[in-house]
Amino acid sequence: MQASPGLVDLCAKELALCGLREGETVAVLSQGDERADYVNAFLAAAARFGAVAFHVRLPDVSSSVDGEVGAWTVGATPLAGNRPALDALKGVDLVIDTIFLLFSPEQREIQEAGTRILLCMEPVDNLARMFPTPDLRRRVEAGAELLSAASELRFTNASGTDVRYRLGAYPVMTQYGYTDTPGRWDHWPSGFVFTGGADDGVDGRVVIAPGDILLPFKEYAREAVELTIEHGRIVDIRGGVEAAILRDYIEGFEDQDAYGISHIGWGMMKEARWSGLATDRRSIHMEARSFLGNVLFSTGPNGELGGTNATPCHLDVPMRDCSLFLDDEPVLIDGDVIPDELRPTAQEALR
Ligand SMILES: [Fe+2]
Repeated sequence: MQASPGLVDLCAKELALCGLREGETVAVLSQGDERADYVNAFLAAAARFGAVAFHVRLPDVSSSVDGEVGAWTVGATPLAGNRPALDALKGVDLVIDTIFLLFSPEQREIQEAGTRILLCMEPVDNLARMFPTPDLRRRVEAGAELLSAASELRFTNASGTDVRYRLGAYPVMTQYGYTDTPGRWDHWPSGFVFTGGADDGVDGRVVIAPGDILLPFKEYAREAVELTIEHGRIVDIRGGVEAAILRDYIEGFEDQDAYGISHIGWGMMKEARWSGLATDRRSIHMEARSFLGNVLFSTGPNGELGGTNATPCHLDVPMRDCSLFLDDEPVLIDGDVIPDELRPTAQEALR
């Protein structure tokens, strides 16, 4: 299979942002017959830099991360138990992951070896439309600075959300769509910043409002869903049919850790749109997680942050029109970004 020239050019632009240099090593990871076009394009693009590149192809698995086939679970991948493949990935400078290693112990092991990892699995037109920029990185890193300095995050909305996260137990993580830092992971395309509350340090109410997005279901909520959270656990889920679906979905994992609270942060990408999901339900939908001013509330595993919750049950809920405060200083008011250094510049708006 020949790589499409347009996709090779796009991947080369991405590898340039990832700081790829002559003589560096690149492994492209895939499973089964999935995303062969991405594999070929990255291998061809890496060759333009004079990098040493190769392909690691694993057996297929039946679960899926895009919600289209089988169960949407995270953390269990065909890399588990495949020591030679894992060692090959740990031995390179840059891994291009097309299978979704996030939340797996193998991803952590690769990063700890100093290898940077770029996840890439979204549709090609979305890779191009939400192509990362150094301006996005600057704004996301400015958000990370604010988050790192805070000891409490609180967010509210007009539907009755009022929840507090005690910060400091977990690091602050950034996603801006590329990575040139050894040991660092990122996902092309994405744009947000996040951390986690202390395991027993999240308390309050989260009321998912009509129009907020339920992932991995890839649905807009049509009615309010009220979650009561005590000491970092969901203790009650109330509402109509969507609350019943959520309750049943989580119960199906038969895992108390499925009721834990995961990452919390906000979206920073001006190219991503809240309404994107209305016409485009492909893949795992980083657009919904990234649109400017969303509060990205999530439940389940926190291994990505260095925590011990390893449940495969992970929900991401991008919420609109929220107000978010760090130690009572506003970052978002009704979904609008407040600090100047976090707002897209006029120059960015012209892109
Ligand atoms: Fe998530």
